[in-house]
Amino acid sequence: MNLPNLKEAKIRTNKEVAIKEALNLKSDKFKGQKFYLKTYGCQMNVHDSEEIKGILTNLSFSETTDLNEADIIVLNTCAIRENAHDKVFGFLGRIKHLKRNKPDLIVCVGGCMAQENSVANLLKEKYPFVNIVFGTHNINELGTMILNASSNQDIEVYSIEGDVYENIDYKRDSKYSAWVNIMYGCDKFCTYCIVPYTRGKQRSRKMPDILKEVQTLKDEGYQEITLLGQNVNAYGKDLAENYDFATLLEEAARINIPRIRFVTSHPWDFTDEMINVIAKYPNIMPYIHLPLQSGSSKILKLMGRRYTKEDYLKLYQKIKETIPGCSITTDIIVGFPNETEEDFKETLDVVNTCAFDGAYTFIYSPREGTPAALIKDNISKEVKEARLQTLNKLVNSYSLKHNKEYVNKIVKVLVTSPSEKGENKVCGYTETMKLVNITGASNDIGKIIDVKITSAKSFSLDGEKEIFANIS
Ligand code: 5AD
Ligand code: SF4
Repeated sequence: MNLPNLKEAKIRTNKEVAIKEALNLKSDKFKGQKFYLKTYGCQMNVHDSEEIKGILTNLSFSETTDLNEADIIVLNTCAIRENAHDKVFGFLGRIKHLKRNKPDLIVCVGGCMAQENSVANLLKEKYPFVNIVFGTHNINELGTMILNASSNQDIEVYSIEGDVYENIDYKRDSKYSAWVNIMYGCDKFCTYCIVPYTRGKQRSRKMPDILKEVQTLKDEGYQEITLLGQNVNAYGKDLAENYDFATLLEEAARINIPRIRFVTSHPWDFTDEMINVIAKYPNIMPYIHLPLQSGSSKILKLMGRRYTKEDYLKLYQKIKETIPGCSITTDIIVGFPNETEEDFKETLDVVNTCAFDGAYTFIYSPREGTPAALIKDNISKEVKEARLQTLNKLVNSYSLKHNKEYVNKIVKVLVTSPSEKGENKVCGYTETMKLVNITGASNDIGKIIDVKITSAKSFSLDGEKEIFANIS
Protein backbone atom coordinates (compact mmCIF):
# COMPACT_ATOMS: atom_id res chain seq x y z
CA MET A 1 0.00 0.00 0.00
CA ASN A 2 1.18 3.54 -0.69
CA LEU A 3 2.17 5.41 2.43
CA PRO A 4 3.03 9.11 2.15
CA ASN A 5 6.69 9.86 2.87
CA LEU A 6 8.62 13.09 3.21
CA LYS A 7 10.73 12.61 0.11
CA GLU A 8 7.65 12.12 -1.97
CA ALA A 9 5.92 15.07 -0.31
CA LYS A 10 8.79 17.29 -1.49
CA ILE A 11 8.75 15.90 -5.02
CA ARG A 12 4.99 16.29 -5.08
CA THR A 13 5.20 19.93 -3.94
CA ASN A 14 7.72 20.67 -6.68
CA LYS A 15 5.61 18.85 -9.21
CA GLU A 16 2.40 20.61 -8.18
CA VAL A 17 3.26 23.58 -10.40
CA ALA A 18 3.97 21.32 -13.38
CA ILE A 19 0.81 19.33 -12.74
CA LYS A 20 -1.22 22.53 -12.63
CA GLU A 21 0.29 23.72 -15.88
CA ALA A 22 -0.66 20.38 -17.46
CA LEU A 23 -4.36 21.04 -16.82
CA ASN A 24 -6.31 21.26 -20.08
CA LEU A 25 -3.09 21.12 -22.14
CA LYS A 26 -3.77 21.52 -25.86
CA SER A 27 -1.79 20.15 -28.82
CA ASP A 28 -2.44 19.07 -32.42
CA LYS A 29 0.40 16.51 -32.30
CA PHE A 30 -2.01 13.57 -32.54
CA LYS A 31 -4.40 14.93 -35.16
CA GLY A 32 -6.00 12.07 -37.11
CA GLN A 33 -5.09 9.52 -34.41
CA LYS A 34 -7.58 7.58 -32.32
CA PHE A 35 -8.01 6.67 -28.67
CA TYR A 36 -9.69 3.64 -27.11
CA LEU A 37 -10.70 4.12 -23.48
CA LYS A 38 -11.91 1.33 -21.21
CA THR A 39 -13.40 2.14 -17.83
CA TYR A 40 -13.75 -0.30 -14.95
CA GLY A 41 -15.61 0.25 -11.68
CA CYS A 42 -17.80 2.87 -10.10
CA GLN A 43 -19.40 6.17 -11.14
CA MET A 44 -16.36 8.04 -9.85
CA ASN A 45 -14.27 6.21 -12.44
CA VAL A 46 -16.87 6.85 -15.14
CA HIS A 47 -16.63 10.56 -14.38
CA ASP A 48 -12.80 10.46 -14.23
CA SER A 49 -12.95 8.91 -17.69
CA GLU A 50 -14.83 11.99 -18.85
CA GLU A 51 -11.80 13.98 -17.69
CA ILE A 52 -9.46 11.56 -19.50
CA LYS A 53 -11.56 11.93 -22.67
CA GLY A 54 -11.22 15.70 -22.32
CA ILE A 55 -7.42 15.37 -22.07
CA LEU A 56 -7.24 13.08 -25.12
CA THR A 57 -9.55 15.33 -27.13
CA ASN A 58 -7.42 18.36 -26.23
CA LEU A 59 -4.44 16.46 -27.68
CA SER A 60 -6.48 16.07 -30.93
CA PHE A 61 -7.22 12.33 -30.61
CA SER A 62 -10.72 11.21 -31.62
CA GLU A 63 -12.51 8.27 -29.99
CA THR A 64 -12.85 4.77 -31.42
CA THR A 65 -14.68 1.77 -30.00
CA ASP A 66 -12.63 -0.56 -32.22
CA LEU A 67 -9.51 -1.68 -30.36
CA ASN A 68 -7.71 -2.47 -33.64
CA GLU A 69 -8.07 1.11 -34.83
CA ALA A 70 -6.55 2.64 -31.71
CA ASP A 71 -3.27 4.60 -31.64
CA ILE A 72 -3.53 4.98 -27.88
CA ILE A 73 -5.29 2.74 -25.35
CA VAL A 74 -6.15 3.97 -21.86
CA LEU A 75 -7.40 1.64 -19.12
CA ASN A 76 -9.03 3.41 -16.20
CA THR A 77 -8.91 0.68 -13.56
CA CYS A 78 -10.73 -0.33 -10.38
CA ALA A 79 -9.34 -2.02 -7.26
CA ILE A 80 -12.42 -2.61 -5.16
CA ARG A 81 -12.44 -6.42 -5.51
CA GLU A 82 -9.99 -9.04 -6.75
CA ASN A 83 -11.96 -9.73 -9.95
CA ALA A 84 -11.48 -6.08 -11.00
CA HIS A 85 -7.72 -6.79 -11.09
CA ASP A 86 -8.16 -10.02 -13.01
CA LYS A 87 -10.15 -8.27 -15.74
CA VAL A 88 -7.46 -5.66 -16.29
CA PHE A 89 -4.62 -8.18 -16.48
CA GLY A 90 -6.69 -10.29 -18.89
CA PHE A 91 -7.22 -7.28 -21.12
CA LEU A 92 -3.52 -6.35 -20.98
CA GLY A 93 -2.79 -9.83 -22.37
CA ARG A 94 -4.85 -8.95 -25.46
CA ILE A 95 -3.13 -5.60 -25.81
CA LYS A 96 0.30 -7.28 -25.70
CA HIS A 97 -0.59 -9.16 -28.89
CA LEU A 98 -1.87 -6.00 -30.57
CA LYS A 99 1.34 -4.18 -29.73
CA ARG A 100 3.45 -6.81 -31.49
CA ASN A 101 1.95 -5.67 -34.80
CA LYS A 102 1.74 -2.02 -33.83
CA PRO A 103 4.86 -1.06 -31.85
CA ASP A 104 3.94 2.67 -31.82
CA LEU A 105 0.73 1.98 -29.95
CA ILE A 106 0.74 3.97 -26.68
CA VAL A 107 -0.66 1.97 -23.73
CA CYS A 108 -1.69 3.78 -20.54
CA VAL A 109 -2.91 2.26 -17.28
CA GLY A 110 -4.40 4.57 -14.66
CA GLY A 111 -6.91 4.81 -11.84
CA CYS A 112 -7.34 2.97 -8.56
CA MET A 113 -5.43 -0.20 -9.37
CA ALA A 114 -2.44 1.73 -10.64
CA GLN A 115 -2.42 3.49 -7.27
CA GLU A 116 -1.39 0.25 -5.51
CA ASN A 117 2.37 -0.27 -5.09
CA SER A 118 2.21 -3.97 -5.84
CA VAL A 119 0.47 -3.30 -9.15
CA ALA A 120 2.92 -0.61 -10.24
CA ASN A 121 5.77 -3.09 -9.54
CA LEU A 122 4.01 -5.85 -11.43
CA LEU A 123 3.47 -3.59 -14.44
CA LYS A 124 7.17 -2.71 -14.40
CA GLU A 125 8.27 -6.34 -14.28
CA LYS A 126 5.71 -8.22 -16.31
CA TYR A 127 4.08 -5.64 -18.58
CA PRO A 128 6.96 -3.46 -19.81
CA PHE A 129 5.01 -2.72 -23.01
CA VAL A 130 2.75 -0.44 -20.94
CA ASN A 131 4.09 3.05 -21.71
CA ILE A 132 2.37 5.15 -19.06
CA VAL A 133 1.15 4.42 -15.53
CA PHE A 134 -0.71 7.20 -13.72
CA GLY A 135 -2.64 7.33 -10.44
CA THR A 136 -5.87 8.88 -9.24
CA HIS A 137 -4.17 12.04 -7.94
CA ASN A 138 -2.54 13.14 -11.18
CA ILE A 139 -5.04 12.41 -13.95
CA ASN A 140 -4.46 15.88 -15.30
CA GLU A 141 -0.76 15.08 -15.75
CA LEU A 142 -1.70 12.47 -18.36
CA GLY A 143 -1.58 15.01 -21.22
CA THR A 144 2.08 15.83 -20.50
CA MET A 145 2.94 12.16 -20.06
CA ILE A 146 1.41 11.29 -23.44
CA LEU A 147 3.26 14.13 -25.17
CA ASN A 148 6.52 12.76 -23.69
CA ALA A 149 5.69 9.07 -24.20
CA SER A 150 8.58 6.81 -25.20
CA SER A 151 9.31 3.09 -25.18
CA ASN A 152 10.52 3.44 -21.57
CA GLN A 153 7.75 2.91 -19.07
CA ASP A 154 6.84 6.18 -17.33
CA ILE A 155 5.29 5.63 -13.90
CA GLU A 156 3.92 8.71 -12.12
CA VAL A 157 1.84 7.66 -9.11
CA TYR A 158 1.60 9.81 -5.98
CA SER A 159 0.39 8.74 -2.57
CA ILE A 160 -0.16 12.37 -1.60
CA GLU A 161 -3.38 13.88 -2.82
CA GLY A 162 -2.36 17.38 -3.86
CA ASP A 163 -4.82 20.14 -4.71
CA VAL A 164 -8.42 19.94 -5.84
CA TYR A 165 -8.59 21.23 -9.41
CA GLU A 166 -11.26 23.46 -10.89
CA ASN A 167 -12.21 24.25 -14.50
CA ILE A 168 -11.49 20.75 -15.80
CA ASP A 169 -12.28 20.26 -19.51
CA TYR A 170 -14.59 17.25 -19.21
CA LYS A 171 -15.80 15.55 -22.36
CA ARG A 172 -19.12 14.36 -20.99
CA ASP A 173 -20.80 11.17 -22.19
CA SER A 174 -24.29 12.69 -22.11
CA LYS A 175 -25.76 16.03 -23.11
CA TYR A 176 -28.68 15.56 -20.72
CA SER A 177 -27.39 14.00 -17.54
CA ALA A 178 -24.12 15.09 -15.91
CA TRP A 179 -21.93 14.04 -13.01
CA VAL A 180 -20.72 16.76 -10.68
CA ASN A 181 -17.91 15.85 -8.31
CA ILE A 182 -18.46 17.47 -4.94
CA MET A 183 -15.58 15.78 -3.15
CA TYR A 184 -12.74 13.33 -3.65
CA GLY A 185 -11.47 10.50 -1.44
CA CYS A 186 -12.94 9.07 1.74
CA ASP A 187 -12.10 9.29 5.44
CA LYS A 188 -14.38 6.50 6.66
CA PHE A 189 -11.87 3.65 6.47
CA CYS A 190 -14.38 0.81 6.52
CA THR A 191 -12.11 -2.11 7.36
CA TYR A 192 -12.70 -4.02 4.08
CA CYS A 193 -12.39 -1.08 1.74
CA ILE A 194 -9.42 -0.01 -0.35
CA VAL A 195 -10.92 3.32 -1.45
CA PRO A 196 -9.38 5.50 1.30
CA TYR A 197 -5.96 4.21 0.17
CA THR A 198 -6.47 4.44 -3.59
CA ARG A 199 -8.43 7.72 -3.56
CA GLY A 200 -6.81 9.36 -0.55
CA LYS A 201 -8.25 11.45 2.22
CA GLN A 202 -11.48 13.38 1.80
CA ARG A 203 -11.15 16.69 -0.09
CA SER A 204 -14.32 18.68 -0.70
CA ARG A 205 -14.69 21.21 -3.47
CA LYS A 206 -15.73 24.71 -2.38
CA MET A 207 -19.47 25.25 -2.53
CA PRO A 208 -19.35 28.29 -4.90
CA ASP A 209 -17.25 26.29 -7.40
CA ILE A 210 -19.74 23.41 -7.35
CA LEU A 211 -22.73 25.72 -7.73
CA LYS A 212 -21.02 27.53 -10.60
CA GLU A 213 -20.62 24.19 -12.40
CA VAL A 214 -24.27 23.30 -11.74
CA GLN A 215 -25.38 26.69 -13.12
CA THR A 216 -23.23 26.20 -16.25
CA LEU A 217 -24.74 22.75 -16.81
CA LYS A 218 -28.21 24.20 -16.45
CA ASP A 219 -27.39 26.94 -18.98
CA GLU A 220 -26.12 24.24 -21.37
CA GLY A 221 -29.52 22.51 -21.17
CA TYR A 222 -28.75 19.60 -18.86
CA GLN A 223 -31.90 18.01 -17.42
CA GLU A 224 -30.21 16.13 -14.61
CA ILE A 225 -27.13 16.34 -12.44
CA THR A 226 -25.80 13.80 -9.99
CA LEU A 227 -23.67 15.11 -7.13
CA LEU A 228 -20.86 12.64 -6.76
CA GLY A 229 -18.70 11.59 -3.82
CA GLN A 230 -17.65 8.42 -1.99
CA ASN A 231 -19.66 9.66 0.97
CA VAL A 232 -21.63 12.80 0.08
CA ASN A 233 -23.09 13.25 3.58
CA ALA A 234 -19.63 14.12 4.88
CA TYR A 235 -19.33 16.92 2.31
CA GLY A 236 -17.53 19.97 3.71
CA LYS A 237 -16.30 18.37 6.94
CA ASP A 238 -12.70 18.74 5.77
CA LEU A 239 -13.03 22.46 4.98
CA ALA A 240 -12.66 25.50 7.22
CA GLU A 241 -15.85 26.97 5.79
CA ASN A 242 -19.12 25.99 7.39
CA TYR A 243 -20.44 23.88 4.49
CA ASP A 244 -22.65 20.83 4.84
CA PHE A 245 -24.37 18.56 2.35
CA ALA A 246 -27.92 19.63 3.22
CA THR A 247 -27.04 23.25 2.40
CA LEU A 248 -25.25 22.30 -0.80
CA LEU A 249 -28.17 20.16 -1.92
CA GLU A 250 -30.64 22.96 -1.20
CA GLU A 251 -28.55 25.56 -3.05
CA ALA A 252 -28.18 23.20 -6.01
CA ALA A 253 -31.94 22.56 -6.04
CA ARG A 254 -32.59 26.31 -6.16
CA ILE A 255 -30.67 26.54 -9.44
CA ASN A 256 -33.71 24.75 -10.85
CA ILE A 257 -32.18 21.96 -12.87
CA PRO A 258 -35.16 19.63 -13.42
CA ARG A 259 -33.54 16.66 -11.69
CA ILE A 260 -30.93 16.45 -8.94
CA ARG A 261 -29.49 13.19 -7.64
CA PHE A 262 -26.59 12.29 -5.37
CA VAL A 263 -24.43 9.20 -4.67
CA THR A 264 -23.25 7.67 -2.35
CA SER A 265 -24.63 8.20 1.15
CA HIS A 266 -23.21 6.60 4.27
CA PRO A 267 -25.90 5.87 6.88
CA TRP A 268 -23.65 7.19 9.63
CA ASP A 269 -23.86 10.92 8.94
CA PHE A 270 -27.20 11.13 7.17
CA THR A 271 -28.78 14.12 8.95
CA ASP A 272 -32.42 15.12 9.48
CA GLU A 273 -31.64 18.34 7.58
CA MET A 274 -30.71 16.27 4.52
CA ILE A 275 -33.91 14.25 4.72
CA ASN A 276 -35.97 17.44 5.07
CA VAL A 277 -34.28 19.13 2.09
CA ILE A 278 -34.86 16.06 -0.11
CA ALA A 279 -38.53 16.07 0.94
CA LYS A 280 -38.93 19.81 0.38
CA TYR A 281 -37.67 20.16 -3.22
CA PRO A 282 -39.56 18.35 -5.99
CA ASN A 283 -36.48 18.50 -8.23
CA ILE A 284 -34.40 16.48 -5.75
CA MET A 285 -35.25 12.97 -6.85
CA PRO A 286 -36.85 10.60 -4.32
CA TYR A 287 -34.11 8.03 -4.60
CA ILE A 288 -31.35 7.19 -2.11
CA HIS A 289 -28.57 4.65 -2.39
CA LEU A 290 -27.94 3.71 1.23
CA PRO A 291 -25.36 0.92 1.62
CA LEU A 292 -26.24 -1.51 4.41
CA GLN A 293 -23.24 -3.88 3.94
CA SER A 294 -24.51 -6.27 6.61
CA GLY A 295 -27.62 -6.73 8.77
CA SER A 296 -25.61 -8.02 11.72
CA SER A 297 -24.42 -5.43 14.24
CA LYS A 298 -21.52 -7.73 15.10
CA ILE A 299 -20.32 -7.78 11.49
CA LEU A 300 -21.00 -4.05 11.06
CA LYS A 301 -18.67 -3.43 14.00
CA LEU A 302 -15.97 -5.62 12.43
CA MET A 303 -16.49 -3.68 9.20
CA GLY A 304 -15.98 -0.38 11.05
CA ARG A 305 -19.28 0.98 9.75
CA ARG A 306 -20.12 2.99 12.91
CA TYR A 307 -23.84 2.10 12.97
CA THR A 308 -25.86 -0.85 14.23
CA LYS A 309 -28.64 -2.76 12.51
CA GLU A 310 -31.11 -0.79 14.68
CA ASP A 311 -29.57 2.57 13.67
CA TYR A 312 -29.94 1.62 10.01
CA LEU A 313 -33.57 0.55 10.41
CA LYS A 314 -34.40 3.75 12.31
CA LEU A 315 -32.87 5.90 9.55
CA TYR A 316 -34.62 3.85 6.87
CA GLN A 317 -37.96 4.36 8.60
CA LYS A 318 -37.40 8.10 8.98
CA ILE A 319 -36.56 8.47 5.28
CA LYS A 320 -39.63 6.48 4.22
CA GLU A 321 -41.91 8.52 6.50
CA THR A 322 -40.54 11.93 5.52
CA ILE A 323 -40.07 11.39 1.78
CA PRO A 324 -43.17 9.66 0.44
CA GLY A 325 -42.49 7.23 -2.40
CA CYS A 326 -38.73 7.40 -1.90
CA SER A 327 -36.99 4.41 -3.43
CA ILE A 328 -34.00 3.01 -1.61
CA THR A 329 -31.28 0.74 -2.94
CA THR A 330 -28.34 -0.69 -1.08
CA ASP A 331 -25.00 -2.54 -1.18
CA ILE A 332 -24.51 -5.79 0.75
CA ILE A 333 -21.37 -7.86 1.29
CA VAL A 334 -21.65 -11.55 2.18
CA GLY A 335 -18.97 -13.82 3.59
CA PHE A 336 -17.08 -11.21 5.65
CA PRO A 337 -14.71 -13.07 8.02
CA ASN A 338 -16.56 -14.53 11.04
CA GLU A 339 -19.99 -14.08 9.44
CA THR A 340 -22.03 -16.95 10.91
CA GLU A 341 -25.25 -18.40 9.52
CA GLU A 342 -27.00 -16.37 12.24
CA ASP A 343 -25.32 -13.14 11.07
CA PHE A 344 -26.30 -13.87 7.50
CA LYS A 345 -29.91 -14.50 8.58
CA GLU A 346 -29.89 -11.04 10.18
CA THR A 347 -28.94 -9.59 6.80
CA LEU A 348 -31.87 -11.45 5.21
CA ASP A 349 -34.12 -10.11 7.99
CA VAL A 350 -33.13 -6.53 7.24
CA VAL A 351 -33.74 -7.12 3.52
CA ASN A 352 -37.20 -8.44 4.42
CA THR A 353 -37.92 -5.46 6.66
CA CYS A 354 -36.65 -2.83 4.22
CA ALA A 355 -37.85 -4.54 1.01
CA PHE A 356 -35.20 -2.61 -0.94
CA ASP A 357 -35.95 -1.43 -4.46
CA GLY A 358 -32.66 -2.99 -5.48
CA ALA A 359 -29.34 -4.14 -4.09
CA TYR A 360 -25.80 -4.58 -5.37
CA THR A 361 -24.51 -7.70 -3.70
CA PHE A 362 -20.92 -8.82 -3.35
CA ILE A 363 -18.81 -11.63 -1.98
CA TYR A 364 -16.21 -10.25 0.40
CA SER A 365 -12.83 -9.90 -1.27
CA PRO A 366 -9.78 -9.29 0.96
CA ARG A 367 -7.83 -6.23 -0.19
CA GLU A 368 -4.14 -6.07 0.62
CA GLY A 369 -3.33 -3.29 3.08
CA THR A 370 -6.82 -3.03 4.60
CA PRO A 371 -7.37 -4.01 8.26
CA ALA A 372 -9.92 -6.71 7.34
CA ALA A 373 -7.35 -8.49 5.18
CA LEU A 374 -5.52 -9.31 8.42
CA ILE A 375 -8.54 -11.20 9.80
CA LYS A 376 -8.50 -14.87 8.82
CA ASP A 377 -10.89 -15.35 5.90
CA ASN A 378 -12.64 -18.32 7.53
CA ILE A 379 -15.70 -18.71 5.29
CA SER A 380 -15.43 -21.24 2.48
CA LYS A 381 -15.99 -20.27 -1.15
CA GLU A 382 -19.00 -22.61 -1.31
CA VAL A 383 -20.65 -20.98 1.70
CA LYS A 384 -20.02 -17.49 0.31
CA GLU A 385 -21.49 -18.42 -3.05
CA ALA A 386 -24.53 -20.10 -1.50
CA ARG A 387 -25.18 -17.02 0.66
CA LEU A 388 -24.87 -14.74 -2.35
CA GLN A 389 -27.38 -16.85 -4.28
CA THR A 390 -29.88 -16.88 -1.41
CA LEU A 391 -29.50 -13.14 -0.96
CA ASN A 392 -29.85 -12.40 -4.67
CA LYS A 393 -33.02 -14.43 -4.89
CA LEU A 394 -34.58 -12.49 -2.04
CA VAL A 395 -33.38 -9.11 -3.27
CA ASN A 396 -34.64 -9.76 -6.80
CA SER A 397 -38.05 -10.80 -5.52
CA TYR A 398 -38.43 -7.40 -3.87
CA SER A 399 -37.19 -5.57 -6.97
CA LEU A 400 -39.82 -7.37 -9.04
CA LYS A 401 -42.52 -6.67 -6.46
CA HIS A 402 -41.73 -2.94 -6.51
CA ASN A 403 -41.52 -2.85 -10.29
CA LYS A 404 -44.91 -4.57 -10.62
CA GLU A 405 -46.48 -1.75 -8.61
CA TYR A 406 -45.67 0.55 -11.55
CA VAL A 407 -47.72 -1.38 -14.13
CA ASN A 408 -50.54 0.75 -15.62
CA LYS A 409 -49.20 3.86 -13.89
CA ILE A 410 -48.02 6.97 -15.75
CA VAL A 411 -44.59 8.13 -14.64
CA LYS A 412 -42.09 10.82 -15.65
CA VAL A 413 -39.03 9.47 -17.44
CA LEU A 414 -35.90 11.31 -18.55
CA VAL A 415 -35.11 9.67 -21.89
CA THR A 416 -31.35 9.29 -22.08
CA SER A 417 -30.45 7.02 -25.04
CA PRO A 418 -31.56 4.44 -27.61
CA SER A 419 -32.48 1.17 -25.92
CA GLU A 420 -30.63 -2.12 -26.37
CA LYS A 421 -34.02 -3.82 -26.28
CA GLY A 422 -35.16 -3.09 -29.82
CA GLU A 423 -34.70 -0.80 -32.80
CA ASN A 424 -37.46 1.70 -32.16
CA LYS A 425 -37.03 1.73 -28.44
CA VAL A 426 -35.39 4.31 -26.24
CA CYS A 427 -34.63 4.11 -22.54
CA GLY A 428 -34.47 6.33 -19.51
CA TYR A 429 -35.05 6.54 -15.79
CA THR A 430 -38.03 7.33 -13.60
CA GLU A 431 -37.66 9.80 -10.76
CA THR A 432 -37.16 6.77 -8.50
CA MET A 433 -34.31 5.52 -10.72
CA LYS A 434 -36.12 2.65 -12.42
CA LEU A 435 -34.86 1.83 -15.90
CA VAL A 436 -37.65 1.97 -18.50
CA ASN A 437 -37.53 0.74 -22.11
CA ILE A 438 -40.01 2.84 -24.06
CA THR A 439 -41.77 2.55 -27.40
CA GLY A 440 -43.11 5.54 -29.31
CA ALA A 441 -40.56 8.06 -28.07
CA SER A 442 -37.73 7.92 -30.64
CA ASN A 443 -37.63 11.71 -30.90
CA ASP A 444 -37.65 12.35 -27.19
CA ILE A 445 -34.04 11.68 -26.20
CA GLY A 446 -33.05 14.40 -23.76
CA LYS A 447 -36.62 15.14 -22.68
CA ILE A 448 -38.65 14.30 -19.60
CA ILE A 449 -41.85 12.65 -20.82
CA ASP A 450 -44.86 10.83 -19.40
CA VAL A 451 -44.68 7.09 -19.90
CA LYS A 452 -47.37 4.50 -19.25
CA ILE A 453 -45.78 1.37 -17.77
CA THR A 454 -47.00 -1.79 -19.51
CA SER A 455 -44.95 -4.54 -17.86
CA ALA A 456 -42.32 -5.16 -15.22
CA LYS A 457 -39.24 -7.34 -14.82
CA SER A 458 -36.80 -7.51 -11.90
CA PHE A 459 -34.34 -5.03 -13.39
CA SER A 460 -36.41 -2.92 -15.78
CA LEU A 461 -39.84 -1.72 -16.82
CA ASP A 462 -41.44 -1.56 -20.26
CA GLY A 463 -43.62 1.36 -21.24
CA GLU A 464 -45.20 3.47 -23.97
CA LYS A 465 -45.07 7.18 -24.40
CA GLU A 466 -48.29 8.55 -22.92
CA ILE A 467 -49.59 11.01 -25.48
CA PHE A 468 -52.76 12.20 -23.77
CA ALA A 469 -51.05 13.02 -20.52
CA ASN A 470 -48.46 15.03 -22.47
CA ILE A 471 -51.14 17.09 -24.26
CA SER A 472 -53.11 18.05 -21.18
N1 5AD B 1 -15.12 -6.92 -0.93
C1 5AD B 1 -16.39 -6.96 -1.41
N2 5AD B 1 -17.13 -5.88 -1.64
C2 5AD B 1 -16.59 -4.67 -1.37
N3 5AD B 1 -17.09 -3.42 -1.48
C3 5AD B 1 -16.14 -2.56 -1.09
N4 5AD B 1 -15.02 -3.22 -0.72
C4 5AD B 1 -15.28 -4.56 -0.87
C5 5AD B 1 -14.54 -5.73 -0.65
N5 5AD B 1 -13.29 -5.69 -0.18
C6 5AD B 1 -18.45 -3.13 -1.91
C7 5AD B 1 -19.24 -2.38 -0.82
C8 5AD B 1 -19.30 -1.00 -1.38
C9 5AD B 1 -19.35 -1.26 -2.86
C10 5AD B 1 -19.01 -0.09 -3.71
O1 5AD B 1 -18.42 -2.30 -3.03
O2 5AD B 1 -20.52 -2.95 -0.73
O3 5AD B 1 -20.43 -0.26 -0.93
FE1 SF4 C 1 -15.14 2.49 1.22
FE2 SF4 C 1 -16.52 2.87 3.52
FE3 SF4 C 1 -15.43 5.01 2.20
FE4 SF4 C 1 -17.54 3.70 1.14
S1 SF4 C 1 -17.53 4.86 3.10
S2 SF4 C 1 -15.67 4.35 0.06
S3 SF4 C 1 -17.16 1.57 1.76
S4 SF4 C 1 -14.31 3.32 3.17
